[in-house]
Amino acid sequence: MPAKVVVIGSLNMDLVTRAPRLPRGGETLIGQSFATVSGGKGANQAVAAARLGAQVSMVGCVGSDAYGEALRGALLAEQIDCQAVSTVEDSSGVALIVVDDNSQNAIVIVAGANGALTPEVIDRFDAVLQAADVIICQLEVPDATVGHALKRGRELGKTVILNPAPASRPLPADWYAAIDYLIPNESEASALSGLPVDTLSTAETAAARLIAMGAGKVIITLGSQGSLFADGKRFEHFPAPKVKAVDTTAAGDTFVGGFAAALAAGKSEADAIRFGQVAAALSVTRAGAQPSIPTLPDVQAFKAP
Ligand code: RIB
Repeated sequence: MPAKVVVIGSLNMDLVTRAPRLPRGGETLIGQSFATVSGGKGANQAVAAARLGAQVSMVGCVGSDAYGEALRGALLAEQIDCQAVSTVEDSSGVALIVVDDNSQNAIVIVAGANGALTPEVIDRFDAVLQAADVIICQLEVPDATVGHALKRGRELGKTVILNPAPASRPLPADWYAAIDYLIPNESEASALSGLPVDTLSTAETAAARLIAMGAGKVIITLGSQGSLFADGKRFEHFPAPKVKAVDTTAAGDTFVGGFAAALAAGKSEADAIRFGQVAAALSVTRAGAQPSIPTLPDVQAFKAP
């Protein structure tokens, strides 16, 4: 049986435009294309873990609209267990995304149904959490729910991963003791630690601070620079495979899902990080959130250029 990954988080329909550059305030740009693509950090991480070898259950909420049906259908198509994906009387979460010619993006999300994922819903699906090997949370659902899920995961003795995305402020101090792996990007690591993070050396200082705050281990993702691992005893830098980027949307989600799937399958931390990085590198060579996420054979066949 493949190892079991449970993802607790958001499902969003991504409304994606491509434009030569990101618009400035008050400016109208002529876009080049538009697409409606299944996304949401939680759902993307669930799809990544499933395509990369894990058995996956999703815990989340969609709206009673056509997007909700499509978001659920996208997960079912990946054989992801959706018994804990509830349909609520609201609009589904949406993300308005602009991707520019340099493959950078800007995103505005509207939570919609994701806001209905309360701690009580987590308790209702406790059996799903009990069956997990690894539990992953992000920050696109209410903070009270994330804190509750992290602590329940810790109580159950599961491996608990928090991808604190999006984060613009420190996390509640009492969450840290429940986190085995904290996986922020540079700006999230900066928001959480209160320190600048723009070089490998500043990333090390921030990671040390996050461990002092109580996180078990920290992996700061550094985009094309790879990632920095810290466990309180040592730091290790993992350079990223070099690829030609088309769209970085969901690269972080692909790393988190791939890392979780590999860790749950028994790989070492170092191998799980390298595996997640190859998956994330492949994802940036393709457009969109879930459509960009590679499969296990894609990762196994990858050869660094
Ligand atoms: O991480 C990428 C995701 O962020 C997109 O799919 C979008 O839905 C936003 O949540």
